Amino acid sequence: MVSRVIPVDDFDLVIFGGTGDLARRKILPGLFRRFRAGQMPPGARIVGAARSEMTTAAYRKTIEGALKEFLDEADCDPKAIKSFLGTLDYVRIDATGTAGWSELAKLLRPDIIRAFYFSVAPSLFGPLAERLHKHRCAGSACRIVVEKPFGRDLETAQALNATLAEHFNEGQIYRIDHYLGKETVQNLMAVRFGNMLFEPLWNAQHVDHVQITVAETVGVNGRGEYYDKSGAMRDMVQNHIMQLICLIAMEPPSRFDPSSVRDEKLKVIRALDPPEASDIVRGQYTGGGEAAGYREEAGNPGSTTESYIAMKLGISNWRWAGTPFYLRTGKRLRARASEIAVVFKDAPHSIFGQDAGRHRNILTIRLQPNEGIQLGVTIKEPGPGGMRLIDVPLDMTFADALGPEADDAPDAYERLIMDVIRGDQTLFMRGDEVEAAWAWTDPIVEAWTRSGERPHEYEPGSTGPEEAQMLLHRSGRRWREIRP
Ligand code: BG6
Repeated sequence: MVSRVIPVDDFDLVIFGGTGDLARRKILPGLFRRFRAGQMPPGARIVGAARSEMTTAAYRKTIEGALKEFLDEADCDPKAIKSFLGTLDYVRIDATGTAGWSELAKLLRPDIIRAFYFSVAPSLFGPLAERLHKHRCAGSACRIVVEKPFGRDLETAQALNATLAEHFNEGQIYRIDHYLGKETVQNLMAVRFGNMLFEPLWNAQHVDHVQITVAETVGVNGRGEYYDKSGAMRDMVQNHIMQLICLIAMEPPSRFDPSSVRDEKLKVIRALDPPEASDIVRGQYTGGGEAAGYREEAGNPGSTTESYIAMKLGISNWRWAGTPFYLRTGKRLRARASEIAVVFKDAPHSIFGQDAGRHRNILTIRLQPNEGIQLGVTIKEPGPGGMRLIDVPLDMTFADALGPEADDAPDAYERLIMDVIRGDQTLFMRGDEVEAAWAWTDPIVEAWTRSGERPHEYEPGSTGPEEAQMLLHRSGRRWREIRP
């Protein structure tokens, strides 16, 4: 396989929150990997902007430490790190005051791509946007990148959209959902829309149900304060899992461009049924052995926030009416494993009789780890003894099929930041999409708040609360195993 790295044009990228966790953990290591892959032009410049008083030399030192901490050892080529650090500048800035803004304005170069990454609390989006304009840092061609959480309900999301819209048009706003930058998530679109094989079967007539699992082994330690106000519903379902549902369920867009793709995703969100309370199971992990339970980690002994959620969803349109989508996500589960399984219906009649058992085709798209796609097919068990059937996977684990270069694929942040520089919004959420997702989420969360219902407890290292099994069992279905 030949890797194709297409360099981008010269740019100035300003990272507000340039010393923060996301910048050190994801954004700058991601930029470094693109630099090392030869994708950054000689005229690329990255400006860290934050509250602390610091020289550019000290900033470079801090980022050098972050690169060594968060990159794989194999990526840490000292020569490359040294030249990458040379592209960094630092400006001390007061997001709500006046300090630093004229220095920033002076630093920015005219007539090249300009992007501002708002890696800060959403309460600072407005003040930053306003100051960028006031100090003439933002021209009509500049881009801004904003991170989740994008609001905590419809009202706050609308307010954020309105604030940004005062200063930027929609074509300048890049709302990141890092799941859209994952290699396999994009592959989901390639598989659906690049092959003839699946589309005729991709509907309620042939698909029995869809399962989406995003299981994590980590808890909320260290992020308890944020997480306790969000829970799995706001933290994962309203955004990441919603995007996965959209990509599985959407109609084929006429082109792979921002408007066509996002129009189709929006239609899916608007077609989601409000789930019945009996179709939702919430869970909270208990402590186990030495490990603290959710409430202790969150620092809230009476917390009713869910660290796990499972739901059955319906989509009211011609393609999907009658096919349930089951989703589950949770922390401190048995394994880190994220996958989408499209479970096809039984053959209408078995010519091999009852003894042949029940066989179903399942298309599994494995998001992480071991990215790949598997199609379960039924074949004859080799050897004598009559017509015995077995299911075997047609396996396309990317690392096996594509060789070492599969490992070298850019990670979600690398790809998305380069898309910002290229000016491609296809893999970013549009304002109306985010609002539609909140409009669907709000009544569900409000019903829990009204009822004061406690989540079911589950043990760390388990597959979640027992009650979640019932969601599928009552219609004769089963969750797939959660395995690493
Ligand atoms: C983040 C959530 O957006 O996504 C975290 O806030 C979660 O709680 C994370 O752990 C999962 O991302 P990934 O890429 O590790 O699946």
